[in-house]
Amino acid sequence: MRLLVLGGTWFVGRILAAEAVDRGWTVTTFNRGRSGPDPTGVEAIRGDRTKAEDLHRLAAAGPWDAVVDVAGTEPWSVGLAARVLRDHVGQYVFVSTVSVYRDWPASPVTESSPLHAGDPDLVVEDPRWDADRYGPLKAGCEAAIRRVVDAERTLVARPGVLLGPYEYVGRLPWWLGRMARGGRVLAPAPADRSIQPVDVRDFAAFLLDLMRRSVSGVFNVAAPAGHATYSGFLDACIEATRTRHGSVDVVWAAQDWLAEQGVRPWTEIPLWRVSKGTWAMDATRAAETGLVCRPIGETVTDTWRWLTAGGAPVPHERQAEHGIDPYKERRLIDMWETGSDFPATEHRMV
Ligand SMILES: NC(=O)c1ccc[n+]([C@@H]2O[C@H](COP(=O)([O-])OP(=O)(O)OC[C@H]3O[C@@H](n4cnc5c(N)ncnc54)[C@H](OP(=O)(O)O)[C@@H]3O)[C@@H](O)[C@H]2O)c1
Repeated sequence: MRLLVLGGTWFVGRILAAEAVDRGWTVTTFNRGRSGPDPTGVEAIRGDRTKAEDLHRLAAAGPWDAVVDVAGTEPWSVGLAARVLRDHVGQYVFVSTVSVYRDWPASPVTESSPLHAGDPDLVVEDPRWDADRYGPLKAGCEAAIRRVVDAERTLVARPGVLLGPYEYVGRLPWWLGRMARGGRVLAPAPADRSIQPVDVRDFAAFLLDLMRRSVSGVFNVAAPAGHATYSGFLDACIEATRTRHGSVDVVWAAQDWLAEQGVRPWTEIPLWRVSKGTWAMDATRAAETGLVCRPIGETVTDTWRWLTAGGAPVPHERQAEHGIDPYKERRLIDMWETGSDFPATEHRMV
């Protein structure tokens, strides 16, 4: 197989490209070369995906059996790449997200749930991360590809949360760092809440298998309900970091109470959200088509091993938004245990 990866050096693209090389595929990556080395064994072509001349130069290095646009977030340039590359590739693969669904995380979603209205021609003026814009932008990217590539050779993956080595969003790295500090740790009850993260290596393996079989269509990608729980995830973080902390005492506070105290879901306490659809993504189609999810403990252990061996995610603005201020965490735990509420004045202090 000859594979072209648009991107390939941060997280998902890096793991995809590396896994494809391990399988003996011939892999080309295309990026600006700003964010670190490409995975060993790939042919790296430098260029800017927003420039037509760079994309035409890339196209001349083809053809490929498949291209995967890993990290496209601007509809206009995602469409530009699709127009330039479509006659030089067999299959066209786009890594999208669960955030394209209009009703996620409020409600459970399947592949046929309604999407945000996405504008396929949209040019992004301000490239900074914006959680509210993310879903509509990715929906616009999907629409831009649909408009120029036949559905029979288009594959769209919509992952929920991906974790593992090289994760730059900062969710699992924050939890590992928090457990390594030890002491009393604030967590949102119920402890047995089902969560659905997928190891990035399992996501890559699934996507490459689909490409090898020339499968098209849309796939939600999430672990089956019940595959992991929040407490199982935290226990794995405690276990992985045990040589760093004296002990960890997890204090489970009711999630509605945490929300009332103004704790920001999803970011201040990563991977937690009250909305009932958050971890109710239907990924039956992926499971039936070959997605295999390893135990969450393996993802946690391998990520900690990677971090402590000197691994560092690419710097990203989203890292700063994750985690709770230690003072606020201590105060909340004290209040939960004594049955008081967070004083309104302190909301402004932390
Ligand atoms: N993390 C999650 O939990 C999660 C969940 C759902 C969906 N997703 C999706 O997963 C994907 C994550 O992708 P990733 O960031 O890990 O992919 P990646 O392919 O590993 O990294 C992004 C690549 O894009 C390149 N790039 C950025 N701007 C470019 C430009 N103008 N021209 C050419 N190359 C450019 C970067 O290199 P240079 O900077 O050197 O150019 C880098 O190689 C995203 O689509 C996200 O929506 C993630």
